[in-house]
Amino acid sequence: MRIYQAKDYQEMSRKAANIISAQIIMKPDAVLGLATGSTPLGIYRQLIDWYNKGDLDFSEIRSVNLDEYKGLSADNEQSYAYFMRTNLFSQVNIKPENLYIPNGLEEDIPKECSRYNNIIKSLGGIDLQLLGIGNNGHIGFNEPGEAFETETHCVKLTENTIEANARFFASIDEVPKYAYSTGIKNIMQAKSILLAASGKAKAEALYKALYGPISPSVPASILQLHNNVYIVADEAAFSLIREKGLLPDQEA
Ligand code: PGA
Repeated sequence: MRIYQAKDYQEMSRKAANIISAQIIMKPDAVLGLATGSTPLGIYRQLIDWYNKGDLDFSEIRSVNLDEYKGLSADNEQSYAYFMRTNLFSQVNIKPENLYIPNGLEEDIPKECSRYNNIIKSLGGIDLQLLGIGNNGHIGFNEPGEAFETETHCVKLTENTIEANARFFASIDEVPKYAYSTGIKNIMQAKSILLAASGKAKAEALYKALYGPISPSVPASILQLHNNVYIVADEAAFSLIREKGLLPDQEA
């Protein structure tokens, strides 16, 4: 596990974007596993900036998103398809045919899950998986208590996640209760993983993920078993780890 400490959100975003851009440069047709939420926004802004300067080329990049709300169409402003279009895809030269995201409107759950797993397999797996971390330790929408060995599945969101995501909706009642999510197994099969975290609200989850017991009650704790993980977080997210004297010296 390589740990990169950043001063604040902006520096965290730049350091994480550096890791993604190194992947794009080393392998121009890489398969990126991408994430939504507040955490990756700054990372995407930085990648767009480097693209606009001519330093990055997305023309052969393939991307597979982690998750999508069940019941929302790709045109719905709260959908993750819309988020990705607005915050990254429409601003770089990635090809629409190379973008994959679960279909929130598919009612047939086994059909959609197997379609999505097959896409990941047919692309040859994920080269670099970007992850945020939920306040409750979730990654993707793999909520606490789920089995580690799942592939893409339909998740019942926890109250904690619904409350955390309500800020994006007009009211909490509008937050979908279910989502399609790639599973821990899909995530762990990625060749490399980049987990980004910012802010005090993530401090406990990050501490448990990196130093706690490996347990489905903290889904991100499984990352301790992956042999190629980058953790990039800011001071506030690392605050509990630092308080406990566990923060290793910075490697880069
Ligand atoms: P956030 O969400 O980036 O909006 O904090 C992270 C997550 O829930 O995985």
